[in-house]
Amino acid sequence: MLVLGLESSCDDCSAAVVEETPAGPILRSLVRESQDAIHGPFGGVVPELAAREHLLQVRSVMAGALAQAGVGLTDLDRIAVTRGPGLVGSLLATFSASKAVAWRQGLPWVGVHHLLGHLNAARFAAPDLPFPALVLLVSGGHTHLYLAPDWTTLELLQKTRDDAAGEAFDKTARMLNLGYPGGPVVDACANTAVKAAEPFTPPKFRDGKASWSFSGLKTGVKLRIERDPRLAQGGAGDPAVQGLCRSLQEAISSWLLKPLPGWAEARGARSLVISGGVACNSRLRSEAALLAAREGLVLAIPEPRLCTDNGAMIAAAGALLTPDPNPWRQNADADLKLV
Ligand code: KG4
Ligand code: ZN
Repeated sequence: MLVLGLESSCDDCSAAVVEETPAGPILRSLVRESQDAIHGPFGGVVPELAAREHLLQVRSVMAGALAQAGVGLTDLDRIAVTRGPGLVGSLLATFSASKAVAWRQGLPWVGVHHLLGHLNAARFAAPDLPFPALVLLVSGGHTHLYLAPDWTTLELLQKTRDDAAGEAFDKTARMLNLGYPGGPVVDACANTAVKAAEPFTPPKFRDGKASWSFSGLKTGVKLRIERDPRLAQGGAGDPAVQGLCRSLQEAISSWLLKPLPGWAEARGARSLVISGGVACNSRLRSEAALLAAREGLVLAIPEPRLCTDNGAMIAAAGALLTPDPNPWRQNADADLKLV
């Protein structure tokens, strides 16, 4: 089965052709148009600009994905698109395009929850993953831990109380004038550090409920810059900036992983999936490998281009879902819930 997957929930416009086989999904093509140059000067995504840019990008990413896979619209068996959650103006670009293609070609159409997409990104490298799986979804908008009994179901275990982990990277990079998006630059800068700066203090939760908090990191970085204003001007070559990035990255990665062994034991998890943009982080990837080995969990972290938002993960999830009998009644949903 050949599936065209489309994704435009935030600032990446992406399309991919995926071949679903009995042995799992095969990536036939993946195209993504970045909008970093547009949002970079603002230090974050501007929803209105993202939506308008998607409208300009959607046709070329679809055409590019088909050409790269060496197939035409008539070869497709299904079209899958992100239904939500996300920025509604952004979502509507590929949502409308997917309906137009489905109508023109008489193709089965399926709307996919964005987070089910991130989970299914792990299916390319680990189609035989043992379940139940702990699923850590970490991006610019999400820091959520789920238990998955299979590839199409997510049960929430815990989530951040405030900022997402990706926001902590992006906001730190902004305060240090390192550029946008923050994750990749902080990661690179941390890896050049000779030594980490003073560690960040982990948050304490008095109510004893399982959760994370990352907004304190923002204040922590701000206070360090107030104490030493040169940090904001030093750039990626400054050893003090590198040390700060290293301790920030170490804090985020260790805080994210800390609750996992307890949950794995409590819920009998056999594997661990980490996906979403922050799953590209080098420190998180290496620490997760050590943790999985220690806990006897099979680890599945997609390759970096499949961790960030992409059409391939939507196609892979869409291949497992039942097509909608009446796509024309469906709409994008900025707050789409998992069922
Ligand atoms: O999944 P994604 O592409 O979009 C959302 O759904 O948000 O994730 C984007 C987030 C951004 O916050 C970006 O800074 C972060 O992923 N990110 C990283 C790395 N690469 C991207 N964070 C840490 N380390 C990285 N190497
Ligand atoms: Zn995402």
